[in-house]
Formats: sequence, C-alpha cells, structure tokens
Amino acid sequence: MKTQVCIIGGGPSGLLLSQLLHLQGIDNVVLERHSREYVLSRIRAGVLEHGFAELMREARCGDRMDREGEIHEGFFIAHDSRLDRVDLHRYSGGSSVVVYGQTELTRDLYDARDRMQGKVVHHAEDVKPHDLTSATPHVTYRDGDEVVRIDCDFVIGADGFHGVSRKSIPKGVLREYEKVYPFGWLGVLSRTRPVSPELIYAKHERGFALCSLRSQVLSRYYIQVPLSDKVEDWSDDAFWAELQRRLPGEVAQRMITGPSIEKSIAPLRSYVAEPMRYGNLFLAGDAAHIVPPTGARGLNSAASDIYYLYHAMLAHYRDGDDSGLDGYSAKALARVWKAQRFSWWMTMMLHTFPDSIDYDKRLQDTDLAYLFSSEAALRSLAENYVGLPF
Ligand code: APR
Ligand code: PHB
Repeated sequence: MKTQVCIIGGGPSGLLLSQLLHLQGIDNVVLERHSREYVLSRIRAGVLEHGFAELMREARCGDRMDREGEIHEGFFIAHDSRLDRVDLHRYSGGSSVVVYGQTELTRDLYDARDRMQGKVVHHAEDVKPHDLTSATPHVTYRDGDEVVRIDCDFVIGADGFHGVSRKSIPKGVLREYEKVYPFGWLGVLSRTRPVSPELIYAKHERGFALCSLRSQVLSRYYIQVPLSDKVEDWSDDAFWAELQRRLPGEVAQRMITGPSIEKSIAPLRSYVAEPMRYGNLFLAGDAAHIVPPTGARGLNSAASDIYYLYHAMLAHYRDGDDSGLDGYSAKALARVWKAQRFSWWMTMMLHTFPDSIDYDKRLQDTDLAYLFSSEAALRSLAENYVGLPF
C-alpha cells in the first residue's frame, strides 16, 4: 500500500489530523492497534479550549459538539470553606471553553472518517516504522499472519504515551523530561445531575477534589488519593463521603449521589519528549507529552500539535514549502511547555503533598490569595485555561 501520510494511532490526535488532511486531498491511513469499541470505551477528560473546538469545526466534526457541548465562561475554586469564581470570559477578553466528553469527540471523529470513507485500520498488530531518516519511510503491521507494508512520505506518531513511535527515536537523540506526582486521581462517572453548573476545583487539607460534568445528567467527579490506593479500596459510598468532606458545606449538601458507572484511578505525571521530529517521523499528542489533568490541558496540548502539522503538510504538498515541517518541533514544544507550566502550577497550588513543609503550605495559600487579589493573575490563569494562541 502507498499513501502520503501514515498515522500511527486512532485516538483524537490521529483521527483529527487524518480528517483535516483528507479534506485537503492529502491521502493518509490511520493504524490503530485496538478495536474502535475499545478506543471509545476509554473515559477521558472533557474540557476543550476554544482553539480545539475551532479545529473540530474546520474538520467538519463540530456539529454534535456545538449541539450537545456546553459553553463555560468560568469555573470555581473552592478553598477555606468558600467558593471563588474565575470569570474566564471577563479575564480572557471574551473567550470560553467547551465542556464535551473526549469519548464523544472521538466518536464524532470516527463517524466523520466513516462518512469520507477514510482509511482507518483497526487491530493493526506490531506496527513498526522503518527508514525514518530516508526520503522513503515505510511502516509495517501485522493483519493476522500477514505482514502489510505501507510506503509513505511521512509517519505521524499519534500513538499515545505507550506507543511505538517515540521509542523509534534513537536514545542518543531523544531527550526526556519527567516529573511524577506522589498521588493519583480517583475518578467516578455517575448518571446524576451535576452539583454545579460550572466546574469546581477544590483545595482541601484532606486532598484535592474536582466536580465536573459531561452533560446535565452525567457528572464526573475526582478526588486525590495516595498512589498506594487501589480502585477496589473505594466503595461508591466511601467515594461520595470523601468528596463531600472536601467541598464547602453549601456544595456538599446539594450533591446528588448515585451509583458509579465508571470508577478508576489515574496517576499524575508531567512528561515531555524532545525533539518531536526525527527524520520523517513527527510526534503528536500524548506520544510526545503528558500533563497532570489539573489544568485540563491533555487533549488541548494535542490540538496545537495537530494544527501545526496540518498546516505544515498543506504547505509541503500544495506549495513545496517545508518551513512548517522544519519548524514543527520547536514551534510545538514552545506551546507544549507553556501547557506543562500551567498544568504544573495548577497541580502544585491545589493538591496536598505528603512531604510538604509548613512553608510550602503557606506558599500554596499565598498563591491562591494572590490569584484572587490580582486582575493580572486572573488574566494569566484565564488566558492559559481558554488556550494560548496556536
Ligand atoms: N500501534 C497502533 N496504535 C497504537 C499503538 C501502536 N503501537 N500504541 C498505541 N496505539 C493507539 C492507542 O490504542 C490509542 O488509541 O494510539 C492511540 C493513542 O491515543 P491517545 O492515547 O488518546 O493519545 P492522543 O490521540 O494523543 O490523545 C491525547 O488522550 O489520553 C488522552 O489525556 C490524553 O486527552 C489526551 C488525549
Ligand atoms: C473532566 O471533566 O474529566 C475534567 C475537567 C477538568 C479537568 C480535568 C478533568 O481539569
């Protein structure tokens, strides 16, 4: 098989790039190792930056997001038994975010690929990129016992943190930066009315908590837990009781609880791999970077990678201009590191740390006090949360 762009990974990053390129007549194929059902079974985050929502609309995948997603113009930070609102609309100069589940977004991307008869190969086993530094790279994968070869111009590594692409960059070339946090997030999805129309990030001496939503009948909640905890350690009742302990009384009292339809613990890490290009391999999304979910930057960091790659490929195929491809890694990393900083800052400010000294705790309190006493601080938070420009 021959194509122009071979995309490894059928998650949101790979699918969005595939759709955008196809709309411009750039031939591509997506290789996904799991089934579509498996990919769509993963519960992920739900806050989309303005820029990501625009990209979905440009990819002609934004209709259901615009119908069913919610525009949010602010969120709350609960601390010291009080709720303070961050007015995103006011402090970002009129912008907002869209609350819409990543699972639904990925479903919309798959549906769009189907409508255009896009080439997405599921159950692609043992995917391997080859000859990445040559002008004629190729990718092989197994379909049962058969080894299939795909000759292409470019390989996109959109295969997530555990994918094969980043590992195809020689150790002497790859530079990795990682910070692992000493706790995880226990998340619950429940068919209950959300406790608040806007998200509530809660800083509490017992640990961080987050009240989020997927719709007005589907709530998403998280509590910080020790890394040693297992999901089976937490009954639904224990989860609801602990979540309510970490929220201001007025919020806890009106919380509607119910059975969890999904419950899982995710560790928190910050991670960046550099460079994001090796020969004709380009990394995008979780394959190159991971953030703690506190700042809701995970999927949104992937959006700018896809935006830059999309325009770079357009310039290459339409104008023979390779400046976008040559500048991709530096440009993508510049925005990735700003998302890293913001996610790290939100995480450090709102969580409890087992080894923190009293001085650290006072600094956290001061960070919050400064935030709500300074328009400049609120503008800084807001511009990062709605999304820095691509
Ligand atoms: N071969 C083929 N496909 C692979 C391989 C492989 N060797 N390894 C991983 N994959 C697939 C995974 O099954 C997954 O469907 O690549 C896809 C990568 O998708 P994600 O992990 O969702 O990464 P990405 O598309 O970059 O989306 C980033 O997803 O994990 C969240 O928080 C993250 O919101 C962020 C978003
Ligand atoms: C979610 O709804 O899953 C969510 C929202 C905001 C975050 C993290 C997760 O910062």
